[in-house]
Amino acid sequence: MLQEFDLRNQEIKIWVGDRLFDRAEAKISVFDSVVQGGDAVWEGLRVYAGGIMLLDRHLKRLFDSAHALAFEGVPTESFIRNALRSTLVANQMSKDTHIRLTLTRGNKITSGMDPRVNQSGCCLIILAEWKPPVYDNQKGITVFTSTIRRNNPAFLDSKIHHNNLLNNIQAKIQSNVAGKDAALMLDYAGFVSELNGTNIFMIKNGKVFTPSADACLHGITRGMIIQLCQENNIPIVEKNISLTELYSSDSVFCTGTMGELTPIIEIDGRAIRTAEPLFNRLTLLFEKAIPAYCIQP
Ligand SMILES: Cc1ncc(COP(=O)(O)O)c(C=O)c1O
Repeated sequence: MLQEFDLRNQEIKIWVGDRLFDRAEAKISVFDSVVQGGDAVWEGLRVYAGGIMLLDRHLKRLFDSAHALAFEGVPTESFIRNALRSTLVANQMSKDTHIRLTLTRGNKITSGMDPRVNQSGCCLIILAEWKPPVYDNQKGITVFTSTIRRNNPAFLDSKIHHNNLLNNIQAKIQSNVAGKDAALMLDYAGFVSELNGTNIFMIKNGKVFTPSADACLHGITRGMIIQLCQENNIPIVEKNISLTELYSSDSVFCTGTMGELTPIIEIDGRAIRTAEPLFNRLTLLFEKAIPAYCIQP
């Protein structure tokens, strides 16, 4: 599934540092830390008619990630909210928009790994594009289990939403070669972790299961689904899940800001049962919750 290019995105304005630039002029320095080491943190945000979904939770995760990486000169929350507002206003965007918000460690005075050569604070990038949810949520997606494992905290803690995405990109290449929509990634012990860009859930005998967030990203949408289950007395269990359990479950779906809730209809050539009423109920609960959780920046 390759996204189509929306021609309106040719004309967008992009926030870099402390102001907006036309798309062609939006650039960062070759001395920026994200160029040299992928040294940045990010959030994917979705704009609905009522505002940005769960913006407060996304900003909290961004600040936690920056703190964990000991970033210095982090912009304030009001600076970021103001930049988000200015970007959306300049592009006349109030729905059907995806924002990639990146915070890099900023410019180095000379190339090198040492953060002490970063002396001018962080660089904020706000890339807002016209973009519908990436997956066809009616049709669902097919996935392929990658040989590339998702990081665990011994190597790079997935609690940090960082830009070191090469293991996920390698997994995605494998699923492309296999002709599937996304890569399923296991953790270091061989249990299911998540897809290359979304979290995973399964339903079995009326209960919802999702992998413990040891190796997967603690996704904001994942958290919302867990919350909705708890609020609606739907049994939800976080545990280690094996591939065999997934293959024989009643329903499997993935979650993320970029795709909302998407059924997974095939894993490694095994057809996955669909038409599970509980999945449809969760989708409806999520859609109904959107207006209450959208926040104007
Ligand atoms: C690896 C990975 N897993 C899951 C997700 C979904 O997280 P969220 O629900 O916060 O968008 C993302 C989103 O960036 C991701 O990169």
